[in-house]
Amino acid sequence: MRRAVCPGSFDPVTFGHLDIIERASHQFDEVIVTVFVNRKKSSLFTIEERMQMIQENVAKFKNVRVDSGDGLLVEYCKANKVQAIVKGLRAVTDFDYELQMAQVNLQGSGVETMFMATAPTHSFLSSSLVKELAHYNGDVSTMVPPSINEALKLRIAGK
Ligand code: PNS
Repeated sequence: MRRAVCPGSFDPVTFGHLDIIERASHQFDEVIVTVFVNRKKSSLFTIEERMQMIQENVAKFKNVRVDSGDGLLVEYCKANKVQAIVKGLRAVTDFDYELQMAQVNLQGSGVETMFMATAPTHSFLSSSLVKELAHYNGDVSTMVPPSINEALKLRIAGK
């Protein structure tokens, strides 16, 4: 069983994330999309809300499941028999940080990180950008699925 994890904050999940998840699902027997707390970021949605939003959008991929984690990613990989961490790289600006994390994770545990090139149409896309645009009533309909667009509007309106 070749099992991979797609880890992230997913606050909220975007079409960029979903593209990487779908493509990873073609390369592995099982893909776990795991929502982690990123201590450096404050979040708009709870972990449970983020998991639910992902679940709704990955249900069509039969070898993908959704989970959450709150410790070190490498410990999660060991506990769940995950051989590879899959990350999307949007641009060279992602590279320094991602390489550093991949090397720390490799050194600590031997878990490989595999980078997938983000589709060019999503290269500028991030959850932070989506939240910023949505906050100012910008159009994010090409960046997130419709239900997440609605959830963003409600949360930003304080509901
Ligand atoms: O979507 P993000 O915020 O870029 O995802 C970052 C994430 C959650 C993948 C990263 O912060 C992470 O791996 N967190 C788990 C704790 C951990 O293992 N930290 C990295 C040690 S180098």
